[in-house]
This record gives sequence, structure tokens and C-alpha cells, in this order.
Amino acid sequence: MKATIVYASMTGNNEDMAEILEEDLQDYGFDVENNDVSFADASDYLNSDLCIFVTYTYGEGKMTDEIADFYDQLKDLDLSGKYFAVMGSGDKTYGEHFCENVFDFEKLFKECGAEEITKPVTIENAPEDEDLDLIDQAAEEMNDKLNG
Ligand SMILES: Cc1cc2nc3c(=O)[nH]c(=O)nc-3n(C[C@H](O)[C@H](O)[C@H](O)COP(=O)(O)O)c2cc1C
Repeated sequence: MKATIVYASMTGNNEDMAEILEEDLQDYGFDVENNDVSFADASDYLNSDLCIFVTYTYGEGKMTDEIADFYDQLKDLDLSGKYFAVMGSGDKTYGEHFCENVFDFEKLFKECGAEEITKPVTIENAPEDEDLDLIDQAAEEMNDKLNG
């Protein structure tokens, strides 16, 4: 099974999440591609069984240019028949905007026709032990649904 992870990260927290998930999925035998959003194109998802987006949220929910560009590419795709998952690191001091861009992409993947494989994983700042468990659980669910 092919999984494509695209992540957006400025200070490394979301990059770390993406790498943890990449290793988990590789352990389950997935063929994984993991790319920074600046070097990815949404059409990369078309060759994949599982489409994953891991993103920061900056600016109280507004999108940075790099994720807005990716959002625009994604919204024209038909991802029916594929699974998707979203996750991200944010900061709860931003209140209702906590990880808002994770949920923006969750909505968009559904509009593209993809089926959500596991609920969004949202963590605060750098991934810690309990966050690793959440990422591991999400990977396990992905494996159960696609390889089980
Ligand atoms: C200027 C600024 C604005 C931010 N706005 C939000 C926000 O609206 N919602 C949120 O959940 N986190 C917000 N954050 C926190 C970051 O999303 C959080 O630190 C995240 O872990 C950064 O991920 P990265 O290390 O992958 O870049 C903001 C941080 C900064 C510096």
C-alpha cells in the first residue's frame, strides 16, 4: 500500500510528527513518500492509497501562502476511493483557532471524495511521549483498515 505524507512546518514540530508517522507506516510495510509542502504537488496523492496532510496553523487560522497554494491544488482533485488522514501541531493559547488548518484540510479532503481513515490527531507544540502514542494509534488504525 502506498501512503503519501505532505507536511508543513516552520520550526520542526510538524516535520517531527510526519517523520514519526512515516516510520510507523514503514514498520507496517507501507511504501511511504514524505515531502515538505513546498516541494510537493497535491497531484502526488493521485498515485496513493492513503493521503496524509500534517500541518501547522499560524496566524489565527489564516493560511500561510505555502499551504494556501497546496489547498488550491487539492481542491480540484477527485480522491474518491482513497483514504485520508490529517494531523498537526498547534498551540491551545490560540483558543478556537487551535489547529484550525488541520480541520480546514479535513473538510477539503472530504469534499474531494476521500474517506477519513482515522480522526484528526492534534497535539501541542513538539511531540511528547503521549503524542507519540496518539500517532502510533493512528498508524495502527491505518494498517488495520488498509492491510488488515
Ligand atoms: C505568530 C504565530 C501564530 C500562531 N497561530 C496559531 C494558531 O492560530 N493556532 C494554533 O493552533 N497555533 C498557532 N501557533 C502555534 C504553532 O502552530 C505551533 O507552535 C506549531 O507547533 C508550529 O509548528 P511547526 O514547528 O511545524 O512550524 C502560532 C504560532 C505563532 C508564532
